[in-house]
Amino acid sequence: MTSLKIVLRIGGSILGSPPDPGVVKKYADIISRISSKKHRVVVVVGGGAIARQYIDAAKNIGLPNAEQDLIAIQASRLNAKLVGMALGIEEVSLSPRGAVSNVGKQQVAVMGGLRPGITTDTVAALVGEAWSSDLIIKASDQHGIYTADPRKDRYAELLSAISHARAVEILGGKHSPGIHSIVDPVAVGLIAKNKLKLIVVNGAHPENVIKAVNGGRVGTTVG
Ligand code: UTP
Repeated sequence: MTSLKIVLRIGGSILGSPPDPGVVKKYADIISRISSKKHRVVVVVGGGAIARQYIDAAKNIGLPNAEQDLIAIQASRLNAKLVGMALGIEEVSLSPRGAVSNVGKQQVAVMGGLRPGITTDTVAALVGEAWSSDLIIKASDQHGIYTADPRKDRYAELLSAISHARAVEILGGKHSPGIHSIVDPVAVGLIAKNKLKLIVVNGAHPENVIKAVNGGRVGTTVG
């Protein structure tokens, strides 16, 4: 079997708030299983509801967008630290280059947020770009990418495979602090520009990540 370079983006909403230890353990187990098959994995963890609570608090005391983002980044790094500890990994990588270097040494690396103005979706895309990843998997709180936002449009249809251009058409737009989109618009643009493969799966069932790695039919494949 070929060894794949995999970026696994775990939504903060999947880990729960406060983080659910059962979910964290399950993901640690899945990641260990994937890496034991000789695949390398950079895990990028989001900040979830805690990040959004800190964004609200920062906003309500009158701090600017960049500072709202900075506090949310700390929340994602805290979640990344927890996932890292469950995997026995000491260091949370602080940049895509750092993550690429760490994954080369220890087969798995973990990372949270990076800088204001983006989300951890874009961090995952930047790691994918720096590493020329074979696969980016987003473990999200939906089944995949729909023709429209299913929380707003009851006629939205789940798509099983789409081109990069179609993904940009559906999800393109601008960043704002606390943005909630299945994959953020900046990330979609980067993934399309670099022609990276992305699979969006329902992260409530962590086995979906294994299915995505093994080429099974799950979620939405982009590219
Ligand atoms: P996250 O990327 O941590 O969201 O971004 P999440 O919780 O995983 O989202 P779900 O679960 O997929 O929905 C939360 C916010 O943190 C700031 C942004 O404001 C972002 O909207 N952030 C995060 C940054 O500014 N920079 C980063 O690198 C990461």
